[in-house]
Amino acid sequence: MASPYPDGDREKVASKLPSVLQQQLKVRAAELSLDIQEAVEAAITAWRATERPGFEVDTAGAKSFSTWLPPGLYEHFKTTCTARDVSYIQGLAQSIRDWLDDNPSPKDAVAPSEPRRIISANQKGGVGKTAVALGVGEAYAEDREVSRKALTGFLEDISYSDLKRIGKTRGDLQDQLAALTFGGNRVLVVDYDPQSHLSDQLGIPQIPPGHDSLVTHMVGDAESDLRNLIVTVDDPRFGGRLHVLPGAFDGFVLDSKLALTAAQSRGFQKEASLERALRPIEADYDIILIDCPPSLGLAMDAALYYGRRRRNEKPQRSGVLIPVQAEDSSATAYNMLVDQIEDLRKDLSIDIDYLGLVVNQYDARRGYVATSSLDQWNNINDQQVLAVLDDLKEQREAVRVKKPLLSYAPSSKQANTMRMIAMGAAR
Ligand SMILES: Nc1ncnc2c1ncn2[C@@H]1O[C@H](COP(=O)(O)OP(=O)(O)OP(=O)(O)O)[C@@H](O)[C@H]1O
Ligand SMILES: [Mg+2]
Repeated sequence: MASPYPDGDREKVASKLPSVLQQQLKVRAAELSLDIQEAVEAAITAWRATERPGFEVDTAGAKSFSTWLPPGLYEHFKTTCTARDVSYIQGLAQSIRDWLDDNPSPKDAVAPSEPRRIISANQKGGVGKTAVALGVGEAYAEDREVSRKALTGFLEDISYSDLKRIGKTRGDLQDQLAALTFGGNRVLVVDYDPQSHLSDQLGIPQIPPGHDSLVTHMVGDAESDLRNLIVTVDDPRFGGRLHVLPGAFDGFVLDSKLALTAAQSRGFQKEASLERALRPIEADYDIILIDCPPSLGLAMDAALYYGRRRRNEKPQRSGVLIPVQAEDSSATAYNMLVDQIEDLRKDLSIDIDYLGLVVNQYDARRGYVATSSLDQWNNINDQQVLAVLDDLKEQREAVRVKKPLLSYAPSSKQANTMRMIAMGAAR
């Protein structure tokens, strides 16, 4: 529907647009110092000109939306919609979606060649470091529209008790979803644990002793390019974007190798060894996740150093993601990790950001110990609980059949919670 603009330059157009897109459009236009009508004009013009096939946008529940466009543009747009056999509402939604993707927030435009680095760490064993590193990596690699759609539905249905556990409202999470763009990223998950559980869970063989691996690259003994070791997860859901650097048996002696190399070669900085090894391949990725072993040695220092805030990097873009459990022994382990982080910060004068906690395998039926521990996690300074994961069968089943969780059970609560963690960590 179109009606004349007061000064005759533009005509009013009334349609419908999902509220998430309306909100994102408003924020992005403001960030780019554009009027909304200019942004919509650019979006529609680009959409009409593109030869990219449109990706269907979920327009159920779209809300009234009106703007002002140059005379005639909306009529041309309607002709294009008819030719593409999509409704006007779908055409508008696709135009805005594509425009948002093609015009990223200036906040995300810093250092585009440097990937975000997320370190999944806790020296306590079996708390979910591997499950979280892999699940979150899958969420980032998954197609943007697929995860957005899944999260939109998940947030609509999320229960009051699930929200209460993390002290957030549905609106808080919907705002987060509206304000960010993730998904469709090029992701590398580094199996930094010599136990190589992550590799094993995907059916990827561990690198045997004495072979080139991340370890040889870290201590300067490598013979071949690190890229030759990387495995692409062969699953259409991730479109070839999810890669794994397999675990190596030699990782069991990484700490002593690092100490020896440092003793033998003057100027060898142990803490920078992981960074030196991964730098050459960083430009290939948007996000690199490190699945750490349950230990606190030199190798762990190198991982934490790798997750530090780099010069010109905005706070909370990279950092440490800490899976914990709602029990007392987990609190002791957490305190030891934090001590190590704080020591590194002081000794090396660096910033290491806390991206958040994931309380894993939560079972309220365990009573007071579980519920009071969860309260404590929610009340730690400098930390936020990004999500609470229940003890769910899909996680174990995915491991059993050696498939990525988001591919094995894409609509499960476990998969959606991984997407929610990815969303919360991507600030
Ligand atoms: N939310 C969950 N629900 C059910 N099973 C889970 C969940 N999270 C993890 N698991 C299972 O618990 C086990 C331990 O999890 P995981 O390997 O992720 O922990 P970890 O901290 O990486 O352990 P490690 O310290 O040995 O590296 C795995 O078998 C995993 O499949
Ligand atoms: Mg692990």
